[in-house]
Amino acid sequence: MNIGIDKIGFSMPNRYLDIKDLAVARGIDPDKFTKGLLQSEMCVTSKEEDIVTLGARAAEEILTKEDKEKIDMIVLGTETGIDQSKAAAVFIHGLLKINPYARSVEIKEACYGATAALEFARNHILSKPNSYVLVIASDIAKYGIGAGGESTQGAGSVAMLIKKDPRLSILNIDNTYLTQDAMDFFRPNYSPYPFVEGKFSTELYLNCLELTWKRFLKENNKKIQDFSAFCFHIPYPKMALKGFKKILPETMDEKEKENYINNFEKSIFYSKKVGNIYTGSLFLGLLSLLENGNLKAGDNICLYSYGSGAVSEIFSMTLVENYKKVLRKDRINDFNNRTRLNVKEYEKIFFEKIKIDNEGNANIEGNGEKFTLKEISSHKRIYNQ
Ligand code: COA
Repeated sequence: MNIGIDKIGFSMPNRYLDIKDLAVARGIDPDKFTKGLLQSEMCVTSKEEDIVTLGARAAEEILTKEDKEKIDMIVLGTETGIDQSKAAAVFIHGLLKINPYARSVEIKEACYGATAALEFARNHILSKPNSYVLVIASDIAKYGIGAGGESTQGAGSVAMLIKKDPRLSILNIDNTYLTQDAMDFFRPNYSPYPFVEGKFSTELYLNCLELTWKRFLKENNKKIQDFSAFCFHIPYPKMALKGFKKILPETMDEKEKENYINNFEKSIFYSKKVGNIYTGSLFLGLLSLLENGNLKAGDNICLYSYGSGAVSEIFSMTLVENYKKVLRKDRINDFNNRTRLNVKEYEKIFFEKIKIDNEGNANIEGNGEKFTLKEISSHKRIYNQ
């Protein structure tokens, strides 16, 4: 049975900060961010947005009424949970009015969560072939004003509908994974921001890539030429580029290398404008490659997923005939229509805390748009439907 991605959607906040403005405000050479990290902009959330609102909007972009009736499982990967008990997937299930006879859960392993969600989806469909599974990756990457990782923040959500006989790509059964217990990036419950050993995390990302890649090739008896393109977890685009260079053999023919580099450029195009979206960033890279590239049906794409802590996985997918038909052609307009913030506005909006009174109430004072946080009432989050 062929199981894979039938549709893929994306949502981001409609405000952004130009990374050069941030560099100037912090007294840093803008080239460090634009050339050193290959970042150009970052998406900025307001207090009426969270992983639920972003996730619901990403899913709403792709789901029909019929899909909503057929979905019987929602798996949401995140490391920006809004509740220690209730899964964000349950809120989204309610907002989207999904079939009640569905399972809704949230999973966590830093930026790796949604990759595990894809595997859960495939296994679920193997036992229930007519099921539709909604996989959502939703995160807000926030390191704090003046923090080392400030220039690599971002926010957004990717939603994927997984089913048999998919119209976009077939998930191949070739996953190779690795776990290394390390403290490169973590966020204890009491801290609003992660603790990050920046240099260590970049080294671990590359170390896990090298180990997983070697084993992936061996386990599956594959070589790099079996894949037309690669997608990497993108904490910032330069990190993915370093990963890409690690697996490109030095002896590779220049023309062949050029093709890979061309596809790689397409895969980082959206992330340059969005910033890090943690568990969704690998799939934002995939979306960017597919919507902006020229791959053809039958092409294999290899994906590297990395979550600090650390878990990594390499797997592949094969594009389906006419896959472009289920993709948007005009997404660039969404980027162009965003509002550009100045640094003062960004500092106020992105870091504004919701003030909850003694009774557990908070007025969000939002714009009332569909799928935004409306209020907190007796500690309960209430969303605009
Ligand atoms: N012009 C051009 N490039 C410049 C530059 C300038 N003026 N100044 C610095 N650079 C380059 C550096 O040479 C370096 O490139 P390289 O990595 O190819 O050598 C890059 O910009 C970053 O500079 P560096 O001094 O290493 O930055 P930093 O100490 O501020 O740390 C991170 C960068 C990514 C480690 C930091 O942003 C971070 O902690 N991010 C969050 C964690 C993360 O994303 N981890 C990734 C794995 S998940």
